[in-house]
Amino acid sequence: MEDMASPPRFPSRVSVYEMAPRDGLQNENAQVATHSKVRLVEALVDAGITRIEVGSFVSPKWVPQMADADEVCRMIERRPGVTYAGLCPNARGLERAIAAKVDEIAVFVSASETHNLKNVNKTTAQTLKTFEPVIGPAVERGLRVRAYVSTMWGCPYEGEVDPKQGLKLAKHLLGEGCYQVSLGDTIGVGTPLQTQRILELFAAEVPIEQIALHLHDTRGTALANVLMGLQMGVTTFDASVAGLGGCPYAPGAAGNLATEDLVYTLHGMGIETGIDLQKLWQAGQVAEAIVGRELPGKVHRAGVRSLAR
Ligand code: HMG
Ligand code: MG
Repeated sequence: MEDMASPPRFPSRVSVYEMAPRDGLQNENAQVATHSKVRLVEALVDAGITRIEVGSFVSPKWVPQMADADEVCRMIERRPGVTYAGLCPNARGLERAIAAKVDEIAVFVSASETHNLKNVNKTTAQTLKTFEPVIGPAVERGLRVRAYVSTMWGCPYEGEVDPKQGLKLAKHLLGEGCYQVSLGDTIGVGTPLQTQRILELFAAEVPIEQIALHLHDTRGTALANVLMGLQMGVTTFDASVAGLGGCPYAPGAAGNLATEDLVYTLHGMGIETGIDLQKLWQAGQVAEAIVGRELPGKVHRAGVRSLAR
């Protein structure tokens, strides 16, 4: 008898972590007005987004676009059930995050030394030391702490990256109190079997609920990697509305996977997100209006559904 492979199993619900106000905007050269950032956050939350990075508490000398993160946090109208988060590189960042009353912070380190050095001016070992007065004290104050391990699929300076280096960093960060590690394809080079190998390596040592995928769509492979992630039990995916974004210290990094493309695909597969896709599309229009140029998301460009006349 022919041996039929069992069909892939997918989760019934997925959590979408919105990145546009932080990863999306941080790469914009022209300063976006604070009230426009607030408008974007509120449009995304109106669409049903419940986890959102609203900005970063990094050095304004390094990323001037994020200098007003504190003000953005003060101005947004908070909704119950929504997690408002900020990226945080050091103890000074934590102080600002606490003053800004975010619910969650995210720390970040790269799997490759050169990207880490360019991004935060420190080795990965020094970066982990910098997080000692951040992660523990944040958790003690009731903040949840998430972590990114960047350049997992490849580094703009070093090329191939050994995923075992990323696993070591991830296990350390989880051990320090982070509740989830989001694996970053910072420059969007990943392909599905590579994703499978990385996730197999992680899943052998880390509960899959503690792993998220943060995929940039530079080469159009992000959704294929999402599908592999879903098949392997990942249920949190980072995305940025309309595909806005990039990393200022990763040349060639394009936007994150577009949130509309992710949600369109998930809903089409019968996977719930709690997000209203039509309203999300409208939030994408807000993103485009505030940066003043066309954004690349596929659903953003084509519309949620179009009928030939
Ligand atoms: P440094 O120059 O080595 O350190 O920067 P420093 O301590 O000498 O600080 C320089 C100046 O910044 C000082 O000011 C500090 O006070 C100030 P001065 O004395 O010269 O007037 N400063 C701060 N100000 C406000 N808030 C702070 C803060 N810290 C220092 N928190 C540092 C080291 C880590 C601060 C810097 O390199 C930095 O801010 N880097 C952040 C770069 C960044 O934001 N990159 C993009 C985010 S990561 C990413 O996009 C990847 C991700 O999306 C996942 C993926 O895609 O893979 C997460
Ligand atoms: Mg990113």
